[in-house]
Amino acid sequence: MKILVVGGGGREHAVIRKLMENPRAEKIYCAPGNGGIGCDAENVPIAATDVEGMVDFAVKNHIDLVCVTPDDPLAAGMVDALQKAGVRAFGPNKAAAQIEASKVFSKRLMKTYNIPTAAYEVFSDADEAIAFIRRRGEYPVVVKADGLALGKGVLIAQNEEEAVAAVKTIMEDHAFGAAGNQIVVEEFLTGPEVSVLAFTDGKTLKPMVSSKDHKRALDGNQGKNTGGMGTISPNPDYTDEMAARCMQEIFLPTVHAMNAEGRPFCGCLYFGLMLTPNGPKVIEYNSRFGDPEAQVVLPRLETDLVDIMEATIDGTLADLDIRWKPGACACVVMASGGYPESYQKGFEIHGLDANGQLDGMDGVTVYHAGTKRENGKFYTNGGRVLGVTCTGQTLDEALDKAYEAVGRITWEGVHYRRDIGRA
Ligand code: AMP
Ligand code: GLY
Repeated sequence: MKILVVGGGGREHAVIRKLMENPRAEKIYCAPGNGGIGCDAENVPIAATDVEGMVDFAVKNHIDLVCVTPDDPLAAGMVDALQKAGVRAFGPNKAAAQIEASKVFSKRLMKTYNIPTAAYEVFSDADEAIAFIRRRGEYPVVVKADGLALGKGVLIAQNEEEAVAAVKTIMEDHAFGAAGNQIVVEEFLTGPEVSVLAFTDGKTLKPMVSSKDHKRALDGNQGKNTGGMGTISPNPDYTDEMAARCMQEIFLPTVHAMNAEGRPFCGCLYFGLMLTPNGPKVIEYNSRFGDPEAQVVLPRLETDLVDIMEATIDGTLADLDIRWKPGACACVVMASGGYPESYQKGFEIHGLDANGQLDGMDGVTVYHAGTKRENGKFYTNGGRVLGVTCTGQTLDEALDKAYEAVGRITWEGVHYRRDIGRA
């Protein structure tokens, strides 16, 4: 079997490592990949968003299965284009990917089908949004750009002045481009956050083990929002009872809602939840594996990932028993100094072996997010650089080992949180 994974971050590395466990996976390509991924798969220099280039490569190389992993090619219809060319692809089509690509769409979906979420209003005019915020007069208030904004399109305003600035940043300064043509103004919710990813073929939904992201850049959940600075699985706040409730109140209703809208969702559906005093509510949907959630969830997967992806495409997920390893997993993201704002690239990474891994430590995997490899050495090449991941019997064991591993790797200006799993 020839498999192509679209993307080039830590999440894609985690997907590839899992796919490699299947002996049928004789050749794995990754487009565009990165330095560390290149040790496990063949990097192909095609941008993740190049729909035409990807289809062309897949057809010419007789690819048997494509995993479209990032949000933007999904939103651009890469799965539709691959299927049209006769290539089997894992991921939602363009119509279904709207569940992540447009917050206006996902909020309306939840309202229409009674799926619990924060109360909200939609605006396409800045003055009207500001007038509403003033009339409402409750703070904090949350202002969100409608479209994809690299996880940065959500602004939490503590007072009127900040709220007005947030609306202007998105709608007048166009900080997130066309993604900010419409905004959602929503109620501020409180409570622990939980990420639940699920496989679904549009009929059956099978949740994966839960996880918890740490979105802020600095210890104690301070600093700017990032793509994610570390994850743990399972999420200690997510009880079996809560999981059963979310299945009935959120997960299954979402699958039904998408079917009722004529947009059946096939692929990995990500539920960003907040466990509020009034029950679990949806903060956001993603149409794909989370990054760095995939890095702690997939290592715990016992069932073969190639089989799961094929069953999802074929609509036979109901027949597949998906099993998980007990224990825990922790991922600490090592980032470039300055991330998520401006940072320099090109520093040599010290401590990795020739395969970009750590010698002599059991149960540790270094997922590469932003690296390049030259003459057998690895260099930083992005904001998030490595996701150092460890499994263990308990969360404490996984975290201790992950931090021990982090301590063996360094480069100029390296930044990571010291409180993953403890904040
Ligand atoms: P999102 O990109 O929609 O996941 O939002 C990023 C982060 O902003 C979330 O992980 C939450 O921590 C926070 N957030 C988003 N919406 C709300 C809300 N309605 N109330 C409180 N926090 C929120
Ligand atoms: N870690 C959050 C995301 O992938 O959007």
